[in-house]
Amino acid sequence: MIEKIKQIADELVGLAPKSAAEVEDLRIKYLSKKGLIASLFNDFRSVPSDIKKEIGVKLNDLKNQATNRINELAESFKGQTVVENDLDLTRPGTDIPLGSRHPLSLVKNEIISIFTRLGFTISDGPEVEDDWHVFSALNFPPEHPARDMQDTFFIEKDPDIILRTHTSSVQVRVMEHAKPPIRTISPGRVFRNEAISARAHCIFHQIEGLYIDKNVSFADLRQTLLYFAREFFGQETQIRLRPSFFPFTEPSAEMDVSCSLCKGKGCNVCKYTGWLEVLGCGMVDPNVLDNCGIDSKTYTGFAFGMGIERITMLKYGIKDLRLYFENDYRFLKQFQGAV
Ligand code: DAH
Repeated sequence: MIEKIKQIADELVGLAPKSAAEVEDLRIKYLSKKGLIASLFNDFRSVPSDIKKEIGVKLNDLKNQATNRINELAESFKGQTVVENDLDLTRPGTDIPLGSRHPLSLVKNEIISIFTRLGFTISDGPEVEDDWHVFSALNFPPEHPARDMQDTFFIEKDPDIILRTHTSSVQVRVMEHAKPPIRTISPGRVFRNEAISARAHCIFHQIEGLYIDKNVSFADLRQTLLYFAREFFGQETQIRLRPSFFPFTEPSAEMDVSCSLCKGKGCNVCKYTGWLEVLGCGMVDPNVLDNCGIDSKTYTGFAFGMGIERITMLKYGIKDLRLYFENDYRFLKQFQGAV
């Protein structure tokens, strides 16, 4: 028995397990109910009584030694269990699916980048606006139909607080605070009380442009818009300015670009006209300048406004406005990788 105790004690000193799992095996081998030390305790019952005390002490010492040794070994592998068993550092990583930018953001960013190259700044204004900034300062007569509840969402009546129906309201805010020269574009959301269909929505996005300085002319407007159209739709693009009317510009025009799909020959996108309507523009009405604290005798300016949804439809051949707002993954993932 003494021999056996000594042998196990020596063995314990030389144990060299390589993992936490091996330590566990050793614990079972030496310390479990059916382990080596438990079996020595079994044998201990038949030890003659004259040496029982001596052997008992040795056996208890052995048990303590084994417990301490195994605990010490277990401690040395703490924290490494995962490394040993689960973590394979050579395994290839899992793919992280690439997100995509919303097509409206892509187009908005592209338009911003074109105009910032021309020295335009970006300005912002509130979506919940008062009547002055959306209509009155912009020369809308009191009975103008756009002020009607049919078109405009009202938050409060008298004084009227509304959701802005166009980003032209930001022009007013900029002019009220800045001194010419002013060169700015204002992207943002606008709201109109329209039934939702493939061609209309009650929420959409516009970009407004404003340039005010001494001697700004219609020729400057035309050249700026031609530069924009060629940068955005391609260098061979032609533009056409048709006379139009807006209360806040005089003269006013609408700009068409030559259809980039059929190169002006006529197709179903341009309805066989060869032209696509893109934006409204004009020279800022002197009344508007004066309303906003800019002397219309010294300064002139031009303004333009375009719908981002429409331009995105033309660029990507999107046929239904509602797709922009549905967050359908099958639609959005087609823009993966575009920046
Ligand atoms: N605010 C107009 C609209 O919502 C667009 C527009 C037209 C803006 C002509 C302008 C402009 O600045 O000069 O339909």
